[in-house]
Amino acid sequence: MTRIVHLTDLHFGMERPELVAPLAQAITATAPDIVVVTGDLSHRARAPQFRAAMTFLQGLGVPVLATPGNHDIPLFNVVARMLGPFRGWRRNVGADLAPGATLDRVRILSANTADPFRWRRGILRQDDLRRIAASLEPGDGRINILACHHPLVEPPGFERGETRGGTAALPSLIRSGVHVVLSGHLHHWTIGLGIAQDRPQPLMLVQTGTALCGRAGETDHGFCVLDLAGPDLAITAWLADATTGHFVAQAPRRFHRDNGAWHLGG
Ligand SMILES: [Fe+2]
Ligand SMILES: [Fe+2]
Repeated sequence: MTRIVHLTDLHFGMERPELVAPLAQAITATAPDIVVVTGDLSHRARAPQFRAAMTFLQGLGVPVLATPGNHDIPLFNVVARMLGPFRGWRRNVGADLAPGATLDRVRILSANTADPFRWRRGILRQDDLRRIAASLEPGDGRINILACHHPLVEPPGFERGETRGGTAALPSLIRSGVHVVLSGHLHHWTIGLGIAQDRPQPLMLVQTGTALCGRAGETDHGFCVLDLAGPDLAITAWLADATTGHFVAQAPRRFHRDNGAWHLGG
């Protein structure tokens, strides 16, 4: 079995400080093989915020794969955003904006969807689609996961056109052999978008809520655990309890892959 923690939208600089230690404890307790972070590590792309995020992530003691979100490029300093949008990320997080990893029978790829020209909204670039297609071998028995900040498909109630090229990329991603897409940005949870008892889907779209963002009105802070074993996938949301501040595992959602699609149920 491969266990992946999906963590997103940490927003260090605007984090809920009382949730930081309980979050680290809960992630460590799940003993993941890797932690995949889909952006917004910082709130304003400032060096101390990136450093706080990296101190947190490195403290987990497991491999971490991270790709940027829109908050990881400068907002107000337009000159810096145009001339070196990812300078802070590269200096403090890593040189690779779209890293990948292979774990047993699971392959993880990422795409940097942050767009300096639009700041909030994202883009899935053609170059990334070509790279993904060239990196994967459909039918090799692996489960292939794509991690990116912006959602490729927005859940009901969020149709805001957040990701240019997102929906249009779905056929290409399916052909390339992508099976699961992990994203954040909306600070909203949706596990298995569009999958119903009578409606299997080729792509498992997982939208994980914010881990730590302390802006007014943010709720359901947490992270997600994906357990992959052959064709079976269990996804468990861990949510911060409003009274204790501790992260608690919710009931797992179980899916299995058959005939090129994800079906509800184990
Ligand atoms: Fe965010
Ligand atoms: Fe975002």
